[in-house]
Amino acid sequence: MENLTQYIDWFRHSSSYINAHRKKVFVVLLTGEAIAHDNFSNIVHDITLLHSLGVKLVLVHGARPQISQALDQTGLAVHYHNGLRVTDAECLHAIKHVVGGMSIDMEAQFSMGLANSPMHGADIKVSRGNFITARPLGIIDGVDFSLTGVVRKVNATAIQQHLDKNNIVLLSNLGYSPTGEVFNLSAEEVATEVAIAMHADKLVLFGPQRGVMDANNNLVSTLSPVAAGALHESIDDANDQAKNGVRESLAAAIKASSKTVHRCHLINFADNGALIEELFTRDGNGTLVSRDNFELLRQASIEDVGGILELIAPLEAAGVLVHRSRELLEAEIDYFKVIEMEGTIIACAAIYPLDEDSGEIACIAIHKDYQETGRGDHLMRALEKEARKQGMSNVIVLTTQTAHWFMERGFTHIEIADLPIKKQEMYNYQRNSKAFRKILS
Ligand SMILES: CC(C)(COP(=O)(O)OP(=O)(O)OC[C@H]1O[C@@H](n2cnc3c(N)ncnc32)[C@H](O)[C@@H]1OP(=O)(O)O)[C@@H](O)C(=O)NCCC(=O)NCCS
Repeated sequence: MENLTQYIDWFRHSSSYINAHRKKVFVVLLTGEAIAHDNFSNIVHDITLLHSLGVKLVLVHGARPQISQALDQTGLAVHYHNGLRVTDAECLHAIKHVVGGMSIDMEAQFSMGLANSPMHGADIKVSRGNFITARPLGIIDGVDFSLTGVVRKVNATAIQQHLDKNNIVLLSNLGYSPTGEVFNLSAEEVATEVAIAMHADKLVLFGPQRGVMDANNNLVSTLSPVAAGALHESIDDANDQAKNGVRESLAAAIKASSKTVHRCHLINFADNGALIEELFTRDGNGTLVSRDNFELLRQASIEDVGGILELIAPLEAAGVLVHRSRELLEAEIDYFKVIEMEGTIIACAAIYPLDEDSGEIACIAIHKDYQETGRGDHLMRALEKEARKQGMSNVIVLTTQTAHWFMERGFTHIEIADLPIKKQEMYNYQRNSKAFRKILS
């Protein structure tokens, strides 16, 4: 009876998670080790449950141990360089057999629907296809990696179309090139690039242990990308398979969470129910890597001047931004907003009042490691909100190299003669910037 009460209690508490996860895109990495483990059928059941709850799922499967075993059996001489397999045509022939067979087996597992099983009534449709464009890794240190490739492009639109039809999308570690070749990729890389391209809500990485452990072997339950980077550097035991697995998952999580993916979860494939515990309980089960709680957009203060100068220096040197001295920046710091990530300024922008109802947006800069991940948009929204708060009806911007970025955000081209008088008087004809205005709704 107590168990029943606990069960009902837990089920009730999970409703907020069910609502939060519905229609969200989750990319799940299933390594070859995870698929080979006895617990894999439970993982399939848990993935089925997520699908039933309306989560849009992209599964990426690896095949590393299965490929190694198959190549051992063929007796082919396999070459490695820097821990990476060189894939020649004969190797690829064997790899296609292994990976193709595994994809088919996984389709079969998701097709089961026996009465009295967790799959009963699930009715899952699995989509596979040429969604990953690959290119050769090339020649490194004089070693030609031949058909070992890297991800060149992800067809996110096509994947989304299949998700919209309520299908599960199943991808593997194989990619295709416009020359018609097949390339052997890393499943971790495929999962990471797909999650980034899809702006996935989550990247779930099934690994060989329960997330990341600290120096005292305690589980680290949450990590920012920066802290995860430091931990990644410290994992250096190349002969320990579990540690190598964690290091690869962590590298994927750091990249994805620094880009467009909000939350990356590292969980253990051997742990029955780890996926459900991680996604439907407050404490989770493994390690969460996320920038959500570690990144802050805020008003700049005088302490930020050094960080802003460091951020904008390369853009000033390249002529993208006008030079600002430390003294000028100190005097104008109240006009600035910054995005801070764990003590580092990674983005800034300013809104200067021009006359009674207009302002100028200036010095918008995102650190190169964090560009094209929506932070520019985030800052623009904050500046426009600030402008409205100050009673401005329109904002202008002068730019030399970023015209289209502003046009795509509602700015229209204006002549220099249309600028507020104060701005016309200061206009630098040598710089020859274009002027744009946005009317604030
Ligand atoms: C321009 C900048 C502010 C955009 O911010 P961001 O966070 O990198 O970009 P977002 O994620 O908000 O938007 C990404 C989109 O902008 C596009 N974009 C990036 N730089 C661009 C440019 N210079 N011109 C036109 N479009 C650009 C990207 O291609 C991407 O398009 P997509 O969504 O169609 O793929 C940022 O890249 C930056 O700091 N650049 C250097 C400094 C600069 O040019 N400042 C403006 C001075 S006036």
